[in-house]
Amino acid sequence: MHRKEFIKTCGFACIGGTALTTLLQSCATTNYFAQTTIANNQISIKKAEFATIIKDKPMQRKYVLVKTDKLGFPICIYKINDESYTALFLECTHRGCELQPGGDYLICPCHGSEFTNKGIVQNPPAEENLKTFKTTTDNENIYIQL
Ligand code: FES
Repeated sequence: MHRKEFIKTCGFACIGGTALTTLLQSCATTNYFAQTTIANNQISIKKAEFATIIKDKPMQRKYVLVKTDKLGFPICIYKINDESYTALFLECTHRGCELQPGGDYLICPCHGSEFTNKGIVQNPPAEENLKTFKTTTDNENIYIQL
């Protein structure tokens, strides 16, 4: 291999490695699965699960994900404010793909439908809003009725 070709190959490998690392780090910080307890058809999540540290600063996550054995898809819990949360079932109402949360929206990777953080359809082909779960709170916890 010639010197110029070797340097070019190493340069692309470094750029690819950096991009992959950045992508993996961003995935790890955005899709956080919260610790939960489940009893009597109710999921309990500590409000503290929304706390995180980004670049040494305490921050609040916009949402956390919850998995249960009972349901085929995760539930996404959005923090609207300290007393108000939405719990959205991540099954697309178009043809049943798993939605991907991203910021304040949920996007379907299959055909591109978009939903708000309250489960309302913003872009077709989906026509129905997402299934939601009733949520209540106290000082420390969020409760989701299944
Ligand atoms: S399954 Fe989600 S848009 Fe088609």
